[in-house]
Amino acid sequence: MIPIIAEIEQVKQSFIAALDSATTGKELDEIRNAFMSRQGEIARLMALLKTLSLEEKRQAGPVLHELRAYAEAALDKKYQQNEQAGLQALACREQSFDVTALRYHDKRGSLHIYSQIIEKLEDIFISMGYTVVEGPEVETEFYNFDALNIPKNHPARDAHDTFWLTIPSLLLRTHTSAVQIHTLEKREFPLAICAPGRVYRNEATDASHNFMFTQIEGLFIDKNVSMANLIATVQTFLQAVFEKKDLKVRARPSYFPFVEPGIEIDCSCPFCIAGCSICKKTKWIELMGAGLVHPNVLKSCGIDEQVYSGFAFGLGIDRLAMMKYGINDIRLFQSPKIGFLEQF
Ligand code: DAH
Repeated sequence: MIPIIAEIEQVKQSFIAALDSATTGKELDEIRNAFMSRQGEIARLMALLKTLSLEEKRQAGPVLHELRAYAEAALDKKYQQNEQAGLQALACREQSFDVTALRYHDKRGSLHIYSQIIEKLEDIFISMGYTVVEGPEVETEFYNFDALNIPKNHPARDAHDTFWLTIPSLLLRTHTSAVQIHTLEKREFPLAICAPGRVYRNEATDASHNFMFTQIEGLFIDKNVSMANLIATVQTFLQAVFEKKDLKVRARPSYFPFVEPGIEIDCSCPFCIAGCSICKKTKWIELMGAGLVHPNVLKSCGIDEQVYSGFAFGLGIDRLAMMKYGINDIRLFQSPKIGFLEQF
């Protein structure tokens, strides 16, 4: 057999293989280009044929023409099949198009963790018959200190590193206890309020201290209010907060100028039985300051301290949230870190 016939056969085989594996119109175009164009394989063989002897032309010519006819027909057929398949796929897509299938990636906002906890605490207070009140964050010295029995130069003021405004005797409130005074001034009894909100302390920040944090204050005033009323109320409140009916509380003597006697209240650790890292293996958690409202506070609001008495307590919401959710840095509450915020 003359060599060109073997070469024609080779080209045919590679054309068949290429056509078999082609699946797109673009691939078919490429095959047409590689084999059928002026620079293609068949044209190359035609040119080669012209250089051969008459006898060789007579033998190889029909084989090459046959290849060209075969290639053209096969390519045309494949183009048609391809077009058909495309139309079918389109029809199929149109037929089974599901208008509900497209879901936008929904990024939803949520209430800040502060708001969520405050709402829950408020609900508990409301269930106990308390009213939610708010006070201003910019306070006067009178509401934040004087009326709360913390006179100027009293050492208790040192514990409250205060942000003073440039306007004399105005400050950012250092505790929600200031709201007690606004409420007491109304002199409507019996009085039962809670006051959540932001407070400010001019101190260095670290993982457990921030210049701004949140507290919630409870205040109850009536006739003959006792320490027993305070402890029972706080226990009921904390049992609801931690959703634990057998939660216990204990009181330790303490000093806050606006209550007498003043106490600190701990609760049995709601997270363990035998001691854990949250209660530092003590089984108790320090939660709040409290006490019976000091007669001087009642007097400074024009209330007869011989007739009325009451109790107050205040606790930090940040610490509560940190314990509950295992948050290790108080500054995260004020940070814009979406990864932190979207957990709640
Ligand atoms: N105001 C106090 C503080 O910021 C907390 C506090 C202590 C509130 C005793 C009270 C109380 O109502 O009776 O540290």
